[in-house]
Amino acid sequence: MLKKPAQTCCDIHPIIRDRWSPRAFDTRPVPHDALLSVLEAARWAPSSNNVQPWRFIVATTTDLQAHAAAVTGFNVRNQRWAKNAPVLIFALARKVNDAGAANGAAAYDTGAAVAQLVLQATALDLVVHQAGGIEKDHIRAMYQVPEDTDIVVGLALGYQGDADSLPEDLPTREREPRARKALTDIVFAGVYGEAAKL
Ligand SMILES: Cc1cc2nc3c(=O)[nH]c(=O)nc-3n(C[C@H](O)[C@H](O)[C@H](O)COP(=O)(O)O)c2cc1C
Repeated sequence: MLKKPAQTCCDIHPIIRDRWSPRAFDTRPVPHDALLSVLEAARWAPSSNNVQPWRFIVATTTDLQAHAAAVTGFNVRNQRWAKNAPVLIFALARKVNDAGAANGAAAYDTGAAVAQLVLQATALDLVVHQAGGIEKDHIRAMYQVPEDTDIVVGLALGYQGDADSLPEDLPTREREPRARKALTDIVFAGVYGEAAKL
């Protein structure tokens, strides 16, 4: 299976190094305990005032109708690969706390929960591809998501598949090297924009 470990300047945990976002999924289902485990990892994310604003809508191929409906939540370009993932998840962020006060950290905290979900999946030899290219109005209507809750991202979860199973331009994109900005471009000291001497 195609691997694309991060090219790092120093050692990082293998789970972080080896995680990447394949679009090729095997149709093999995700065992129930593995699905539970990745959701549990998300549940234990830290959050501002422990508000836990994240919500998840899950559809798996154990219910083909629900899975087919979830596929329509992805935009057409993303549907090309998301439809093969046996688990589709939409991550939502509730913009108010349990007392009804605005929670400005809702999106930040939901991102942290998704990051934990993704790393737990990696630890279980699963892969996740996140998608901002989703049909938010359609998702809101389909799942009756209340107005106080933002639809943040779609997640395709499953076992990695063969890159050549992908259509059109996607096998080539699957093999593109992963790239990141240098630490000197993102870590500053003294003045914003001045690279920290690490
Ligand atoms: C919030 C978010 C939205 C994304 N949206 C899309 C998307 O709509 N379609 C897509 O193919 N990939 C999407 N991606 C995947 C990114 O392109 C990918 O994570 C990035 O290129 C880094 O690659 P890596 O995850 O393999 O390191 C998204 C990732 C994130 C975190």
